[in-house]
Amino acid sequence: LPTAMLSAQPTGFNYDEAKVPAYTLPDPLVMADGTPVTSADQWPKRREEIMQLFLEEVYGKAPGKPEGLHFKVVEQSDDAVNGKATRKQVRVFFDVDETVAMDILIYLPKKSVEANKPVPTFLTLNFFGNHSISDDPAILLSESWMRSSKEKGVVKNRATEASRGASANRWPVEMIIDRGYGLATIYYGDIDPDFDDGFKNGVHALYDPPAKDGWGSLATWAWGLSRAMDYFETDGEIDAKRVAVFGHSRLGKTSLWAGASDPRFSITISNDSGCGGAALSRRAFGETVARINKSFPHWFCDNYLKYSDNEGACPVDQHQLVALIAPRSVYIASAEDDTWADPRGEFLSAVHAAPVYRLLGTDGIGGATEMPPVNKPIMHTLGYHIRTGKHDVTDFDWNAYMDFADRRWGK
Ligand code: GCU
Repeated sequence: LPTAMLSAQPTGFNYDEAKVPAYTLPDPLVMADGTPVTSADQWPKRREEIMQLFLEEVYGKAPGKPEGLHFKVVEQSDDAVNGKATRKQVRVFFDVDETVAMDILIYLPKKSVEANKPVPTFLTLNFFGNHSISDDPAILLSESWMRSSKEKGVVKNRATEASRGASANRWPVEMIIDRGYGLATIYYGDIDPDFDDGFKNGVHALYDPPAKDGWGSLATWAWGLSRAMDYFETDGEIDAKRVAVFGHSRLGKTSLWAGASDPRFSITISNDSGCGGAALSRRAFGETVARINKSFPHWFCDNYLKYSDNEGACPVDQHQLVALIAPRSVYIASAEDDTWADPRGEFLSAVHAAPVYRLLGTDGIGGATEMPPVNKPIMHTLGYHIRTGKHDVTDFDWNAYMDFADRRWGK
């Protein structure tokens, strides 16, 4: 990785609010032909226009559910998380021949399972393998390609025993179980290894190489989340109608696209997702489209390259990504020191998506127009907080997500 990418504020980018260029956002409530959208029954048509633009110009089109999709429970126990949870590891095969697969690690509160109560569940992707979220020795050690990281115990692009629990600080498993929620997680590299190889590995191996409007890696990871949802619909222990899809950073970009492209997700959570996620591209604050296309050419479809240093020409901006999820709930979270991800731009996406939420009969973001003080979440159909601290996932974030889920799901 270029060293600049590792620091919180790479140089050569704008972090000054006064230098944000003047911009006009595309209006989610005006049809392509100029007709204003003034009633809820016009929304499906307008939504479809916006959806097509994101598919063609930003994330790229993914295939549907593969015919050969099937599942196998490869490990399970009813004694996990200090006796409070059940654990299940499910292998999701993407093809009949079982050449490509992802593993879902699932913890559910034992109380609910024993009472036959389907569990509302957080579905998440992780960066360093399922075994990195907890030191539970029964979690299968990932054998997939992984970004090398000394800190995470990854050696020569493979996990080692030292990788176990290496990311546990981001995953308060017991706290989640104690609050009655399930946690399901998947290593994102099982679906598509995160490097630019011309789409040969991961699930791409089963398909023709993507066209200019074909699925980039973000769309591919989101597709994997939909396949996890396919599994949930077959597992009576999970309440498939109450699934919150969560992701951090590039995986927060992914959760937003998953929420937009698959209406089965009840709640969508974006943690510090930044450029290509919740942040408005036209602000060009912190990370820009040009920079993200250069550093990560495989994340978006090739058509997105047209908008490098040319954000204003893109027919959509990221508030419309949030609007695509309406009227379902979205929670956007920022961190004060995460200027690279443009916290204000993340907040403004919710503000500019809110008119669509209101048109559809919800309270949107409760009329907020200014960012709330730090560590003071706003919770309406849309939720938002900016917490103190850096680009990360903390217990503060998780508590807010669970409070939001309590409200949304009436727990
Ligand atoms: C880089 C990248 C961001 C991304 C982040 C991450 O900082 O520029 O767009 O969100 O990595 O995924 O950790």
